[in-house]
Amino acid sequence: MREGHQGTGPGAITPDGCAVDVYRRLGAGIEPDVIEAAVPAGASLLELGCGAGRVTEPLVRRGFAVTAVDESAEMLEAVRERVPGVEAVRSPIESLELARRFDVVILASFLVHTAEHRTRQAFLETCRRHVTDDGCVLIQREGEDWHRNLPREREDPAGCTVRIVSADPVGDGVDSVLAEYVFPDTTWTQTFRSRHLSKEDFERHLGEAGLVVDTYLTDDATWVRARPKSP
Ligand SMILES: C[S@@+](CC[C@H](N)C(=O)[O-])C[C@H]1O[C@@H](n2cnc3c(N)ncnc32)[C@H](O)[C@@H]1O
Repeated sequence: MREGHQGTGPGAITPDGCAVDVYRRLGAGIEPDVIEAAVPAGASLLELGCGAGRVTEPLVRRGFAVTAVDESAEMLEAVRERVPGVEAVRSPIESLELARRFDVVILASFLVHTAEHRTRQAFLETCRRHVTDDGCVLIQREGEDWHRNLPREREDPAGCTVRIVSADPVGDGVDSVLAEYVFPDTTWTQTFRSRHLSKEDFERHLGEAGLVVDTYLTDDATWVRARPKSP
């Protein structure tokens, strides 16, 4: 388990504290719509941190060629079950070295907020290394006030209450966040570390990896399309 990350509840738990069975159950949400609207039809997509294929499956159904990457063997098993024939690669995002580039690289699920600067840098460099020079990188970041006004909850169509219970500072701008996933039969929790990134910080980190914001795709600025910087 990664330092500061923990998960409780039945079944396999990934190194960052995610319960595989939660991600098998949760609905796809708005993510496939946001992605589809932001990229060319039929594009090749590299999805980093794909989990159990919650978003992979609708993207494949919509005609995209998706390569799904995760470090968790159990998550990849779930993707392969859900999306037969999908290319699923087990690797840490940081050290991924596929010998080809994609029209689009997706770094969703707020992974860019990882506590360690060098890990974030490595994530963004992986994005840059795997996107074509005229392609784009889609990143999902946290909303400005997400660690305040807690607890906050939403109902997932899968019949789950997703609750962000608390976010407690653990120093150096990093919070320890506790999330609960309450289904009628079982509750899972995840504790994870998240670093607040202002828009300025976020854009600076992108720049250091050779990327630049093209546009903020959603009104809350949580979905971003970035492009490789021109040489
Ligand atoms: C919160 S889950 C989200 C899964 C999926 N993106 C979704 O929205 O349903 C995060 C996923 O990223 C994976 N992950 C986290 N850090 C990773 C890393 N450094 N390298 C590879 N996979 C990672 C976890 O194993 C987990 O499956």
